[in-house]
Amino acid sequence: MPIPRRIIACVTAGTLWTGALGLAAVGAGVATASQAAAVDNGLAITPPMGFNDWNAFGCNVSEQLIKDTADYFVSSGLKAAGYTYVNIDDCWMTHTRDADGRLVPDPVKFPDGIKGTADYVHSKGLKLGIYEDAGTATCAGYPGSLDHEATDAQSFADWGVDYLKYDNCNNKSDGTRADFLRRYTAMGDALKATGRPIVYSLCEWGQQQPWEWAGDVGNLWRTTGDISDNWGSLKSITDANLPLAAYAKPGAWNDPDMLEVGNGGMTDTEYRTHFSLWSMMNAPLLIGTDLRKATQATMDILLNKDVIALDQDPLGKQATVLSSAGGAQVVVKQLANGDRAVALYNESDQPQHIATTAKAVGLPASGAGYRVRDLWQHRDYQSAGSLAATVPAHGTVLLRVGKDVRALLDPALVDAGVGGAALHIQPGKGADVTATVTDLGTLPALNVAVKLTAPSGWSVRPKGRTSVVALPGAHTLTTTWHIDVPAGTDTGTYPLSGTVSYSGVGPHTAVSSPLAGQVAVAVPPPAGTSYLSDLPWESASNGWGPVERDTSNGETAAGDGRPITLGGTVYAKGLGVHAPSTVAYYTAGGCTSLNATVGIDDEKKNSKGSVEFLVLADGKQVADSGVVTSTTGGHPLTADITGAQVVQLVVTDGGDGNDSDHADWAGAAITCS
Ligand code: GLA
Repeated sequence: MPIPRRIIACVTAGTLWTGALGLAAVGAGVATASQAAAVDNGLAITPPMGFNDWNAFGCNVSEQLIKDTADYFVSSGLKAAGYTYVNIDDCWMTHTRDADGRLVPDPVKFPDGIKGTADYVHSKGLKLGIYEDAGTATCAGYPGSLDHEATDAQSFADWGVDYLKYDNCNNKSDGTRADFLRRYTAMGDALKATGRPIVYSLCEWGQQQPWEWAGDVGNLWRTTGDISDNWGSLKSITDANLPLAAYAKPGAWNDPDMLEVGNGGMTDTEYRTHFSLWSMMNAPLLIGTDLRKATQATMDILLNKDVIALDQDPLGKQATVLSSAGGAQVVVKQLANGDRAVALYNESDQPQHIATTAKAVGLPASGAGYRVRDLWQHRDYQSAGSLAATVPAHGTVLLRVGKDVRALLDPALVDAGVGGAALHIQPGKGADVTATVTDLGTLPALNVAVKLTAPSGWSVRPKGRTSVVALPGAHTLTTTWHIDVPAGTDTGTYPLSGTVSYSGVGPHTAVSSPLAGQVAVAVPPPAGTSYLSDLPWESASNGWGPVERDTSNGETAAGDGRPITLGGTVYAKGLGVHAPSTVAYYTAGGCTSLNATVGIDDEKKNSKGSVEFLVLADGKQVADSGVVTSTTGGHPLTADITGAQVVQLVVTDGGDGNDSDHADWAGAAITCS
């Protein structure tokens, strides 16, 4: 939890999560009683789209920012693309209520008040959102709405507010679901009583499984803690929100939090995955970046109409996971016109081949095959039934698939990639890789040609043919390439890129699409026993901040940890990680055992932290600590890794989210011959 807003949320969470279960029956009764009163507001029939300032500006919100954003919505085409709500988050008010007990907008930040700001936003054909809290104070310490619901809802209505995000800090809760229902229903009823249509967004961070009850109270509900602008956060929120598909429906949506697209902490590939999956999950699309500084790449993501159409599809069905193995997920969404949207989502750190079929995603049989639109390439293809791609690490190939005989005029969908898993090459040595191109269409792909490129200074040459005049449906062109890596090349993973070009049988069907691959340049550990923290790792991913060598995980910058301490014992060596985490080492078949003492660092003693430590040898589990908690100190862990090419040290969140999961691989050492 590296940022203040999260700490505030978690301090409160500590008291809420104890004894929070077991009151479902009481809760259900309350929900039924208030159901008709609270939710049938006819709003958010498709997930809300717009902007919220928090992710990019924190407390630096102002009338000027909101007005500039509204202007930009109009001038940039965002409004035309469906973005409507311009939402103010925390810190918009003064620290005290007025003599009549009403909230007071900060006169410096909002010289025209919320009313004047709303009038401006409305004059642009847009809507205004605001933030409050179901507690005595907001997360940033401004007056909360608990026990002031009617007064505050009336202020919002009088000002012309169209959307309320209702947070959960400082809530004085007894931690029961009944209490959550009472606090959130009170505001829902108060909004209803004003008679103004106001979208009601519950922000209780998934603490009381709001998907089970909030559909009767409001229009959307946060399912997790706060998002942050890094891959670990995106991945864990996605994993938590995907299984909740059954609870979403028009007017009632799961909310995995606002968008981070454009904020700089992730790659464009990761941001495209973010936008793809949020749309597949019917999430609200609330832009969370400074639009005045947005790059073309950011705007191209936010304005992708094909992807937005999935989010806004009138059927309102959240995507479900069809298959998931080793980080390769097939996620499918049913659409109103009978099409299926298919996300081939690679949450792993290497390129992965991901495949499914039209039949498996629920489409009816079709002798003439299917039309497949690649929603990021903006191109139509034809498939006889297979849907497959080699997807880059953290990437998503997003397809819209339907029956359409005219697709036979489109080029065949091809499945092209280099190798499967990461291939290892030692500096100063060479190795062969294999590129394959398979025609998944009904008709041949013509003039197929493959090119492969490696980082500059490396040599790459084909060992066989790289082109073919016609590649019939269901046939594969395989090319072996030899790659030499210069001596002295730094260890690490390097992309192999390339293109496959071909055309279909119809006119104007020339295609040039990218080939994704990756090699790892790696040096095996020396003979004898070495501390892992003294060796270069091949890859490392971590829930918060970077993996630390010889300290615990401090959550943000590199080097911010403390001495590794488990059960009162301080360890000079080891790795400090934060769940979910994977650290991989290249062992080249030459190592035999791995030993460590594992546990939650004493800096999180008696917290919510709980994790599981796993060791994988070439993907096969060879050691498992079981779930360890913040009260149990260090546990010895030994793994037989004989013959493995790659060893992975994995820490999962123990099944309860990754709050306080500071995990130590204390004294971790590897023995090689
Ligand atoms: C909580 C919410 C965030 C944001 C902040 C504002 O952490 O979950 O989305 O609104 O409060 O203080």
